[in-house]
Amino acid sequence: MNMIPDWQWNEIQQIGTDYSNLSQVEIYDNRMASFRDVNAENQEMLQMLGLAAGSAVLEIGCGTGRFARYAAAAGLAVTAIDVSKIMLDYVVKKAKDENLPPITTRHSGFLTMDFPDASFDAVVSGAALHHLPDVWKLVALRNIARILKPQGQFILRDVVFSLKENEQPKDCFDRFIASFNEQVRPNAIGHIKTEYSTYDWIMEGLIKMAGFRIISKTNPFESFFVYHCIRIGDK
Ligand SMILES: C[S@@+](CC[C@H](N)C(=O)[O-])C[C@H]1O[C@@H](n2cnc3c(N)ncnc32)[C@H](O)[C@@H]1O
Repeated sequence: MNMIPDWQWNEIQQIGTDYSNLSQVEIYDNRMASFRDVNAENQEMLQMLGLAAGSAVLEIGCGTGRFARYAAAAGLAVTAIDVSKIMLDYVVKKAKDENLPPITTRHSGFLTMDFPDASFDAVVSGAALHHLPDVWKLVALRNIARILKPQGQFILRDVVFSLKENEQPKDCFDRFIASFNEQVRPNAIGHIKTEYSTYDWIMEGLIKMAGFRIISKTNPFESFFVYHCIRIGDK
């Protein structure tokens, strides 16, 4: 295992919602199901990846493991990591209850994961990278490029802000908040206030700087982007 330098961002600390608390985990799972069609998202991701059965896929920031479990059921060899141990226990229990093939779990994150180089055919991450400030996002993205095989694929889904012409950041934040129903709006406000979502031009620059080519970029919801990327080069 690599030594963690003392200047490294402590990614195990929870920012925003505390996902190390079991009651929050269950609330989170129900909240997501109330405004997202998670199965449709998962199906779309598997279609984008077009991987053969048995391919090695890593989900980073797996949360309750909705993608990890879906991909395991589809025959992929899934590893799921999260900085919340409670989330990982939840994934393992759910996979067992659902009689799925085993999912390998590891208590680590974007910065601390130490898989060998070129371990995975694909990496997927949803609504997790925004937990890191921008300087650390680049370190995380480079770590993802490192553990992917050459030409390996990466799908990033996250809250990313995009300013329309002549807009101020506040206009963009107001649009984001207004896109949620009243029940979820406090979470949207908390997201802007305490988490580290960035702007689209910064995110694209970071992805490219880390050694990826963006092959598609979509914007399925307000202030939410899906980047499908390919690792370029052989490093
Ligand atoms: C908003 S939830 C998203 C869960 C799931 N991917 C989804 O789309 O529903 C964010 C998850 O990222 C995890 N997380 C936060 N910081 C992380 C990091 N640095 N590395 C890996 N996971 C992290 C949290 O513990 C939490 O489970």
